[in-house]
Amino acid sequence: ALISLRQLLDHAAEHSYGLPAFNVNNMEQIQAIMQAADEANSPVILQASAGARSYAGEPFLRHLVLAALEMYPHIPVVMHQDHGAEPAVCIRSMQSGFSSVMMDGSLLADMKTPASYDYNVDVTRRVVEIAHAAGVSVEGELGCLGSLESGTAGKEDGVGAEGILSHDQLLTDPEQAVDFVKKTGVDALAIAIGTSHGAYKFSRPPTGDILAIARVKEIHARLPNTHLVMHGSSSVPQDWLEIINKYGGDMGQTYGVPVAEIVEGIKHGVRKINIDTDLRMASTGAMRKTMHDNPKEFDPRKFFKATTKAMKEICKARFEAFGCAGMA
Ligand code: G3H
Ligand code: 13P
Ligand code: NA
Ligand code: ZN
Repeated sequence: ALISLRQLLDHAAEHSYGLPAFNVNNMEQIQAIMQAADEANSPVILQASAGARSYAGEPFLRHLVLAALEMYPHIPVVMHQDHGAEPAVCIRSMQSGFSSVMMDGSLLADMKTPASYDYNVDVTRRVVEIAHAAGVSVEGELGCLGSLESGTAGKEDGVGAEGILSHDQLLTDPEQAVDFVKKTGVDALAIAIGTSHGAYKFSRPPTGDILAIARVKEIHARLPNTHLVMHGSSSVPQDWLEIINKYGGDMGQTYGVPVAEIVEGIKHGVRKINIDTDLRMASTGAMRKTMHDNPKEFDPRKFFKATTKAMKEICKARFEAFGCAGMA
């Protein structure tokens, strides 16, 4: 059944677990997530970006989610819109049936230029007013995602600021977070703690100076009743990185957010953990390997099936690690 993000995250807070929010664009990703959730008996957050909507087309995306709901009526599903660039994007998602939207006012509508605090409060508050009237939840974002190692957004894909960002912009200010939640009424707050979108997050396994889990604790101490969201939270599995490069890929050495650090965040108010890159890597690795191992094969279902299985294993591992397995 379709539920709102607020309903699900309230349950998660009550029972001290977190939920992976996986980005979806196509049938295989949705099937992988739903099969894993069914086996783990976990609730699910499916999230789609504006890019996903233009990739699949709004009707296809909507009907893929409806198919998931029909096939798995016992699994609670949140349909969330990721990184809305402006209120109009969020409103279109509400019309499309999403039960949750993110208004990302940390950046201007170009999704590159860091926005002022007042702009962020203004657009986010406007979306909350409309969404709440329709029973839809809202996630806001305060602070710019980006690398504390390089001072840049480090983005290879997806959403991210351009240019050099200051240390202040890259770490959400706890006092400002209190004010932001009070002024906007958001249901969940995405915070910046040194993670960035895409595969190239850290040049070495991250330590506290470049992945600021301590900042999560400071924010949670001041906002104990606010559900926190971690973006850029792929772990960048080293085994899939190796497979991709072994079978013709050319990705550089890179590190993501260790699952153990996310679990530490979950102990301190993190309830939603955004993951896109890990499923992209599993899918690409499985595709490359299966094609290499089966050169005579020309039925693409063989390749797609391998991608679904690879993604499903990651989903299941995250459901178990984040404590949401058994909570459906
Ligand atoms: O935050 C960005 C997500 O990884 C979605 O990326 O805009 O390419 O769909 P996308
Ligand atoms: P990753 O690129 O780390 O998977 O992050 C995804 C994300 O934050 C989507 O909003
Ligand atoms: Na989001
Ligand atoms: Zn994100």
